[in-house]
Amino acid sequence: MAGREHWRSRTGFVIATIGSAVGLGNIWRFSYVAGENGGGAFLLVYALAVALIALPLVVAELALGRRGGGDTVTAFEAASPKSPLRHAGWIGACGAVLILSYYAVVAGWALKYFSGAALGGLWSAAFSGYGAYFEQFIANRGEPLAWQMAMLLMSMLVVSAGVRGGIERLNLWLMPLLAVIVLALAAFALSLPGSTAGMRFLFEPDWAMLARPSLYVAALGQAFFSVGVGMAIYITYGSYLPGTFRIPVSALTIVAGDTLFAIAAGLAIFPAVFAMGADPAAGPKLAFVTLPQLFLAMPAGTVVGSIFFFLLVAAALTSMISLLEVPVALVMQRLRWSRPAAVAAVGTLIFAIGLPSALSYGVLTSVRLAGMPVLDAIDHATSGLLLPLAGIAAAFAAGWAWHRRTALEAANLADTRLGTAWRWLLRYGVPATIAVILLRAAGLA
Ligand code: TRP
Repeated sequence: MAGREHWRSRTGFVIATIGSAVGLGNIWRFSYVAGENGGGAFLLVYALAVALIALPLVVAELALGRRGGGDTVTAFEAASPKSPLRHAGWIGACGAVLILSYYAVVAGWALKYFSGAALGGLWSAAFSGYGAYFEQFIANRGEPLAWQMAMLLMSMLVVSAGVRGGIERLNLWLMPLLAVIVLALAAFALSLPGSTAGMRFLFEPDWAMLARPSLYVAALGQAFFSVGVGMAIYITYGSYLPGTFRIPVSALTIVAGDTLFAIAAGLAIFPAVFAMGADPAAGPKLAFVTLPQLFLAMPAGTVVGSIFFFLLVAAALTSMISLLEVPVALVMQRLRWSRPAAVAAVGTLIFAIGLPSALSYGVLTSVRLAGMPVLDAIDHATSGLLLPLAGIAAAFAAGWAWHRRTALEAANLADTRLGTAWRWLLRYGVPATIAVILLRAAGLA
């Protein structure tokens, strides 16, 4: 077999990884989870979760991937050949497939809104209200499937062009554009009269919220989802890292970039929500029901709205390709398939698995899993359970299965205090925190 693919440049790697991290999680999910959990207080706990749990895990995953030199299953087998932990790579692989299956559906909604915003159909639908518009769209039998498929096909195209020619290249021009767009949208929202209430909502902690256990579960779940830890992205992307790249600085840049992007998206959304007197805690519908209404009421709103939905689509696409690369790398390595064949097979499988999610508000509306529509249930099960579990597995593999020296050298942290702190967090801090929160979420502690 030809040698493993590698990133062309360090910048390319960092930007592609930020592209993976920045996605629907930063715009659609962050804004409604922060809205539901009281804004500023949530942001504080979220920042701690990112710094103390997600960041050490990113370093661990990148190191596991680079040293394992292969897909995520191989990486866990290499780190702990004898313990049951060697099977843990499958959690990440299955998780990536499951997340991508419903992520493609929501990304499809964004694509539908973008095309409607750009072509005008979205704006002329305003008379019935966007609540009804959205309900009607997601209840439709065929339409959501078509948009879901379109998003998947685009990701498949990029991933089949390979690590350098596809993933790295697309991100290198798309991500800087997205950064400019989100900053421009934030500046615009902040210029609206009455926008300061949104700033206050996002930054002023409501301390009483800190007494609610659900805030911690939500903050940790959001940190996992937004940074994208626990689903073997970093393991897979790490396996394309040359030995000469130093991991800690890259990890810090990635995590900081993701957090800043979420805050900028919050600054684009909440000031507008408050300026227009809308409800910041509208839940998952915030982006699809509340925002279009706001755009219509704003000066130049149809232009701003088109740009916003472009941002949503592009951010989703760069995340979808990272999620797709995980199972594709696995199939290529394990079954020795060519990249295009692996992409075709995995993409088709993911489309099929996503069908119940795509139909979960329409034909399958009466089907409930744990009292939720299919799409919501899979979202909860993956981000609330699979991601944290896979996170514990990565912490154990790098913190316990590896010897001290191996771990510190693999992460470029040998002979540093930071290395000692990192290893301590992986061995104790990270697993303990995740375990407590998992038990809490299950109502057991
Ligand atoms: N982080 C992305 C977002 O914010 C989604 C994503 C990409 C992801 N890769 C992941 C989520 C891996 C969990 C695990 O939208």
